[in-house]
Amino acid sequence: MPKLVFIDAGGREYVVEAAIGQSVMRAAVAAQIPGIEALCGGNCVCATCHAYIGEPWYERFPAPDDTESAMLECTSEPREDSRLTCQLPVTAEHEGLVIRLPASQH
Ligand code: FES
Repeated sequence: MPKLVFIDAGGREYVVEAAIGQSVMRAAVAAQIPGIEALCGGNCVCATCHAYIGEPWYERFPAPDDTESAMLECTSEPREDSRLTCQLPVTAEHEGLVIRLPASQH
């Protein structure tokens, strides 16, 4: 089970194990990581699972589709490395994945 490292806006780190095939969002919610709200349950319609996936990790996921790209524009602080974590399936390649959380989802 790959370990994922969530870092909140204040610099606190949370290390979580994720199952292969589980979304980054599901792993965060299961571990009660503060800051990932996921109000729509993973249907890509709420944008409250927003996070930043910096290099080198950003390239290790499929590019966002049109729906995700549109929803990312609804986030409060979008950046070039913004993703919706419900759209990021964990694979064995993601051991040590770092996910930086925005200060707010609203
Ligand atoms: Fe709603 Fe990801 S959980 S968009």
